[in-house]
Amino acid sequence: EKALKKKGDFSGRKFLITAGPTREAIDPVRYLTNRSSGRMGYALAAAAVARGAEVLLISGPVALERPRGVEVYPVQSAEEMYQSVMSLKDKADIIIMCAAVADYTPVTCAEHKMKKQERLRIDLTRTKDILAELGKDKQAFLAGFAAETQNLEGYAKDKLSRKNLDMIIANDVSGPETGFDSEYNAVSIYTEKGAAVHLEKDTKRNLADRILTEIAKNI
Ligand code: CTP
Ligand code: CA
Repeated sequence: EKALKKKGDFSGRKFLITAGPTREAIDPVRYLTNRSSGRMGYALAAAAVARGAEVLLISGPVALERPRGVEVYPVQSAEEMYQSVMSLKDKADIIIMCAAVADYTPVTCAEHKMKKQERLRIDLTRTKDILAELGKDKQAFLAGFAAETQNLEGYAKDKLSRKNLDMIIANDVSGPETGFDSEYNAVSIYTEKGAAVHLEKDTKRNLADRILTEIAKNI
């Protein structure tokens, strides 16, 4: 297996990976976002390239160096990420949605900086669920992520079936040492048929390799 990995067990494969948060503008100087460093998605991109794959990486705003050999498509908002994914999806045979896409976006973006008031209401509307859209007309192996603070397995499996995915990678973000802003993570992987795979705490780069090995078993 080691020898195969060196030669590149993903050579000839094309990945589309999303990473990082999205930013939803409130006014010219403010936005809504999710906590996400982009590290897990960038680690997956680097691991896939190292194993011989071609990788397209759609990235929200992050403070990371672009991984070598990866084609990066920067985006800001959930809508931009949606458009970018839709324009690139047909090129990929494996899609991993690792991005922390905002679920809501302001109905309007104020033209000028809003002045402070005693109270403020911002009307929000739902963004498109990119992953669910991909699942409706599935052309590629489709993997999603689920960050949860409770009922990890239940919520993750629900997303797996509801969004018509081939795999969901779930991580518990309630702990202090894994998940957000960390070099480390720990995940549980669920597929429709196979048994759950629990990957213990490790660097995101090592976990990326172990996640890819699970994908290889399922394609
Ligand atoms: N996702 C997406 N588009 C969205 C929201 C989420 O593609 N508008 C993707 C994420 O990239 C992730 C998966 O869906 O791969 C699960 O995201 P998550 O936020 O955990 O699930 P939601 O369906 O948004 O449900 P909730 O936030 O209520 O848990
Ligand atoms: Ca969400």
